[in-house]
Amino acid sequence: MFTLIVNGKKRQVDVEPDTPLLWVLRDNLGITSVKYTCGIAECGMCTVLIDGEARRSCVVNVEDVQESEITTIEGLPDNHPVKVAWIEKQVPQCGYCQPGIMLQTVDFLSRSPHPTEEQINAEMDNVICRCGSHPRIKQAIRLAAEMIAKQGG
Ligand code: FES
Ligand code: FES
Repeated sequence: MFTLIVNGKKRQVDVEPDTPLLWVLRDNLGITSVKYTCGIAECGMCTVLIDGEARRSCVVNVEDVQESEITTIEGLPDNHPVKVAWIEKQVPQCGYCQPGIMLQTVDFLSRSPHPTEEQINAEMDNVICRCGSHPRIKQAIRLAAEMIAKQGG
């Protein structure tokens, strides 16, 4: 039995120690916003925040995150600049990739609050959107960065 902290709440799961966090979130806790695609840390669809750091949950074992704060897109407040910017720029098409990319953006902007075009391109180079929403993703990242800057973040 493992106790996890997911979106601020303690959750208990009875799984094998090497179960990927992705499957625990989806199958045991019903958080299906966390998506499976490659399973080998290549696409970014399964990204969650673990203690504020964007991590690919398909390659994180549940036994390694027992004391950690795990955040999925549901754990971001509705007024978070990344959520607001994503809506403002109408980023998603099918939406499949968006939770992971938004959470990666949260981490990215915490590391690079005033990102250059090159930094944005480099950061988004390793996430896959099959609908081709990258131009809107980049616009939303710039808008979220402006909003965070205005808030003094
Ligand atoms: S499913 Fe985890 S990175 Fe692709
Ligand atoms: S919006 Fe469809 S995969 Fe990105």
